[in-house]
Formats: sequence, C-alpha cells, structure tokens
Amino acid sequence: MAVLIAPSILAADFSRLADEIRRVEEGGADWIHCDIMDGHFVDNISFGPAMVKTVRQLTLLPVDVHLMIERPDHFVPRFAEAGANSITVHVERESKHDVSETLKEIRELGCRAGLTLNPETHFSAVEPYLSVIDLLLVMTVHPGFGGQRFCPSELEKVRRGSAWNRANESQITIEVDGGINADNARLCIEAGANVLVAGTSIFKAREYAAEIRALRGG
Ligand code: DX5
Ligand code: ZN
Repeated sequence: MAVLIAPSILAADFSRLADEIRRVEEGGADWIHCDIMDGHFVDNISFGPAMVKTVRQLTLLPVDVHLMIERPDHFVPRFAEAGANSITVHVERESKHDVSETLKEIRELGCRAGLTLNPETHFSAVEPYLSVIDLLLVMTVHPGFGGQRFCPSELEKVRRGSAWNRANESQITIEVDGGINADNARLCIEAGANVLVAGTSIFKAREYAAEIRALRGG
C-alpha cells in the first residue's frame, strides 16, 4: 500500500488558507487533515464545521476530520454535512460518547469511520472495535497542540494494528499523528503506517513539496 501524506492545517497560516492548501496539493498531499479541539477533551480550541466546509470548497482531496472533542456523536452530522470524507473519534471515556454508536453513525452518514487513542491509552481499548472501523489513528503525541515531540513508543500500537490486519485479512488504514517529520517517517512506515499526518514539519518548511517527498521516503 502506498503511503499517503495528510497535512494538518492546524499549522497552516489561516490568513492565507486557500494558498496553503493549494501549495500542499501541488506538493503532492493526499488528504487534508482537520484537527477539531473543543477546550474540554483537550486543552485547546481550534475550529469547527464552518472551517471544514471552507476546506471542502478549497480542495478535491479527501478531508480527514479528527475530533478531539466531548460528545462527538452530537457533532458528527455537522462535520459530515460540511464535507468530511473520514471522521475519527477518540476511544477515551473522557470523550463522553458511546463509541460503537458513534462509529455506526459516521458510517451511516457516508463517511469512513476512524477511531483513535492517546499515548497513555492501551491498545486493548480499541481492540473491540477493530472489526467496525475503516481507520485507526495512532496518536504519537498527547493531543491538543501542534509542534510537539514524536513518541516512538507509540509505534508498538501501529505494529499491533498491522498485525491485526494481517491476521484478519483486513485493510484498516493505519494513520499516525503528532510530531511526524522526515527523520521519523521511515520508522512509522516500517511499523506499518499507511497515512502520515504532519502539521509543523510541512507548513513550517520552506518547500512544501520537498518536505512531502521527504516524508514519503525521498
Ligand atoms: C495533535 C493533532 C495533530 C497535530 C499534528 O493535537 O491531532 O494533528 O496538529 O501537528 P504536528 O505535526 O505539528 O505535531
Ligand atoms: Zn490530528
């Protein structure tokens, strides 16, 4: 499976969003990743469905929405309506929803259903849902802020997801998110990641295309 690159617009210059999206698109990006933070589930506030709708209007690439919010079940319809192709929710109890029901709701709305877990959450928390998700997002930093340092220990979860795929002849997409750069991308790919989310490393680079190529392995 080819590795896909998903720039996180959290690190983009919002005053020039159209230009930023055009530059990553021209640079070979595969998906656009939107980080939604509510100030409750994580200690930061980013943006909501109106921004996702704007992104949808600016690109034909798949829009990948990562909900770091409480009660994602309540907001999923608005993000689907805004044009998300995939919607990922957190498995932790603090996100305050019925995980199975929310995943079902996401699929019923025609989106790919993703599930994610924080670094301190054991892989066993997502295991019961592996047969009903399209995408497993492995957080390689504690969510809330861009620009943090990558935690290599989280790659074990990527390996376990890949092993599950092999054992079950399944093809769940495995995505890594947080602190991904050209130095650690290879480790992620070797562990079995199919999609690399990258905010700071791409949007703070001088040449987005070169950085995207480097992330993919040169
Ligand atoms: C972490 C977010 C990530 C993050 C990635 O809270 O889910 O998507 O913005 O940004 P970098 O690549 O800067 O860690
Ligand atoms: Zn994210």
